[in-house]
Amino acid sequence: MKVLVVGSGGREHALVWKLAKSPHVTELICAPGNAGTSCVLLRSGNPATNIPIAADALDALRDHAVRHKIDLTVVGPDSPLALGIVDHFQAAGLRIWGPNRRAAQFESSKAFSQHFMLRHKIPTARSGVFTDAFAARRFAAELDGRCAVKADGLALGKGVLLTHSVSEAEKAVDDMMLHGSFGEAGSRVVIQELLEGIEISLHALCDGKTARLFPTAQDHKRISDNDQGLNTGGMGAYSPSPFLNDADLERVGQAILGPWLEGCAEEGIDFKGLLYPGVMLTASGPKVLEFNARFGDPETQAYLPRLENDLVELLSASIDGTLNTTPIRWSPLSSLCVVIASAGYPGPSPKGYPIHGLKDLSGHPQLEIFHAGTALKDGEVVTAGGRVLGVTAWAQTLHEAQQAAYAACDRICFDGMQFRRDIGAKGLRH
Ligand code: AMP
Ligand code: GLY
Repeated sequence: MKVLVVGSGGREHALVWKLAKSPHVTELICAPGNAGTSCVLLRSGNPATNIPIAADALDALRDHAVRHKIDLTVVGPDSPLALGIVDHFQAAGLRIWGPNRRAAQFESSKAFSQHFMLRHKIPTARSGVFTDAFAARRFAAELDGRCAVKADGLALGKGVLLTHSVSEAEKAVDDMMLHGSFGEAGSRVVIQELLEGIEISLHALCDGKTARLFPTAQDHKRISDNDQGLNTGGMGAYSPSPFLNDADLERVGQAILGPWLEGCAEEGIDFKGLLYPGVMLTASGPKVLEFNARFGDPETQAYLPRLENDLVELLSASIDGTLNTTPIRWSPLSSLCVVIASAGYPGPSPKGYPIHGLKDLSGHPQLEIFHAGTALKDGEVVTAGGRVLGVTAWAQTLHEAQQAAYAACDRICFDGMQFRRDIGAKGLRH
């Protein structure tokens, strides 16, 4: 089977790594991929290959898939999904995994999601959706300025401003709605009350009728230790997280996925793909902060080493609507991923620095260095983006996984590299 993976981040390297283990896969291509994806070996011993087509160049991707008779395309990032890559491929008779454009709105429009949650009584923050800055300011004042002000469209995880006073909230509204600080994405905003609690990531694989919950994971969104500094795409993750036991996870999952599935059925939304609700566990129960319509990054790097199923079979069940008869099996091990980023991240960062230490860390059975912003230059791996590597280890306990991941981080070196020293610490303290 020829499989194409769309994307170039750590999540996509993890997907390629896991797909390569499937006996169904005879050829594996990543568009555009990174230095890591081109070094993954299939069971046959052949390497996966990269092709230089951008993740949102839908026509070029479709033409490649038709020409090379790709049997299955797996989409990693949000942007091609929001553009309708699934509808585009299906119209050409191609098999592709991910939500169609309408279903991807759960991520591509925060206003769509917020209205949906209100219609179907999914627990979420008190909120309003605004296209008028005056009304937005008035609602923010009603919340005493303790708000999350969110641009409606996709903004690379950066379109959310958390405010703690009326003046801060008004400034956030004005920046987004009047001064265009997030471009077109900010012409409509969602304002939510600021929630307090523990934040967890839920993942559920869906086939249009059934949603199968993954174990828990926890991301670390802020750039610096102790959750200080700017929000990022995610600086590290681990799974499982000890903040919910199995029974509580089932209960929280049901409270969200039950009404979500009923709402989708009622409205004729055929969601086949991965639903990733960001959830705050508050004193008054779990509340959804947002929905994503794809695998999390770096959650995927922590999840996939624990997944015991063949990923091709699992994604096929999601496409074919047979998840209700497909058990998902997870290893009891803990896994932990530390993201190493370039200097300057989450702002602009320099590129092209050689990365040292990678060769010595390959071949370990419970350690994988997933690449994100990397490229090959004259046979050498160099930095090529903000988040560069996801150093992932798995072991009997969270503590051991953490120690192994950090021991590996300390053997990697490039100019200006930065990473958090406390990934997993909250879980260990719990
Ligand atoms: P989002 O893209 O909506 O998940 O927001 C990005 C991050 O902002 C989340 O991961 C949370 O850490 C934080 N956040 C979003 N909404 C809220 C809220 N209503 N209350 C508190 N924090 C929030
Ligand atoms: N882990 C954050 C995200 O994937 O959006």
